Amino acid sequence: MAKKKAVRKTKAETAASPASPQDSARQQAPAEERYGEELAFLRAIDSAPRPAGWQLSPERVVDFLCGTDGESIRAPAAAQLPADTSRSMKLEAKFVGPRSLVERCVVTLAGERGLLLVGQPGTAKSMLGELLSAAISGTSALTIQGTAGASEDHLRYGWNYAMLLDQGPRPEALVPSPVLTGMKQGALVRIEEITRCLPEVQDALISILSERRLMIPELSGEAGSVFAAPGFNLIATANLRDRGVSEMSAALKRRFNFETVMPISDPQQEVLLVGDRARAVLQESGITPEVDRRLLEILVTTFRDLRDGRTDEGWSVERPAAVMSTAEAVTVAAAITRQGAFFASQKDPVSLVPGYLLGVVFKDNSDDRDRLLAYWDGPVRRRSESDALWKRMYELRHVLEDAELEI
Ligand SMILES: Nc1ncnc2c1ncn2[C@@H]1O[C@H](COP(=O)(O)OP(=O)(O)OP(=O)(O)O)[C@@H](O)[C@H]1O
Ligand SMILES: [Mg+2]
Repeated sequence: MAKKKAVRKTKAETAASPASPQDSARQQAPAEERYGEELAFLRAIDSAPRPAGWQLSPERVVDFLCGTDGESIRAPAAAQLPADTSRSMKLEAKFVGPRSLVERCVVTLAGERGLLLVGQPGTAKSMLGELLSAAISGTSALTIQGTAGASEDHLRYGWNYAMLLDQGPRPEALVPSPVLTGMKQGALVRIEEITRCLPEVQDALISILSERRLMIPELSGEAGSVFAAPGFNLIATANLRDRGVSEMSAALKRRFNFETVMPISDPQQEVLLVGDRARAVLQESGITPEVDRRLLEILVTTFRDLRDGRTDEGWSVERPAAVMSTAEAVTVAAAITRQGAFFASQKDPVSLVPGYLLGVVFKDNSDDRDRLLAYWDGPVRRRSESDALWKRMYELRHVLEDAELEI
């Protein structure tokens, strides 16, 4: 028994060692483990006041998400750090975007309203929710995925019916939803794509958000009402492309503060982010690649032009119906680099761009290939006159024409 105990690792140690058997069996660890060392460090050095139930002070939560701009944070001599944690750390920015947005999110979460992150797909709404809950509550696992099939039970509680029939309604037979668990633990709960739930199902959250209490009429006495512990709140996300927030009831909207997450505004920051994320994705699958810098520039420029409907030169572009998000650009950059790593004969990553682009663009609308061709005949051709890389792209136009597509 004692021997077993000696080899058991702490959570922070497990997070720091990607070679642990548990990690090697998982495609992706949750944020609280991926950044376990940073969070443990911040918790140890954070002496600022924290809202009740929070693991970090608001300022440190924002540092964790937005980074420290290359500056190192030094642990005070008196700070007790977990073993193997360095005494000084530079925090990388995980969310690329305005610090003020993250500050407002943090302020909302410490108040009496929930936080609703809205925006186009792939703008890091879910990532923000995951990072905020990992930093504030130490877990991002209390999550509900909103679907058309979600019922009130998914948001409140259900029953273990075998036990219910056998012994009647009693606390042991209750199956808590993540919301109920978060209320009991005083933790943040994430509701992904809330607007995909039916409005009447969403409305189960109204009383939870306003009274901070959940009634369980089947149970008598104290067990019949659960009061939210300090630290509990909701982070919901809503995608403007799916069912919009317009169908949400006014009563529920009033109980959330809305924050709109926009695509990354600075092209250079987007190039850096796409490169970093693609590298990280590939490393998780055991590939240690060099993501081609030219590829990143071509990809990000193309995605931005098609997303914005306008190039930096001021030329207008017909926008495809598909979403040209940063997240999609990361996926394409990783896929092209992976193809280069798998097939030694593949030495020209740019030559793969049109094929992968079609895979992103050609999803909803059969006219989207024509829009892509128009982009090639416009901006790509014009740039090809003065830039060798765009010339190479222009020469690949036949890939778009020859592809056999059907939707
Ligand atoms: N501003 C950003 N900062 C950091 N990463 C970003 C940013 N925008 C996009 N990404 C990248 O995009 C990925 C996908 O983001 P995420 O899934 O959180 O988007 P989403 O807004 O929830 O999309 P959806 O609406 O489709 O659910 C992130 O993991 C990250 O790699
Ligand atoms: Mg999402």
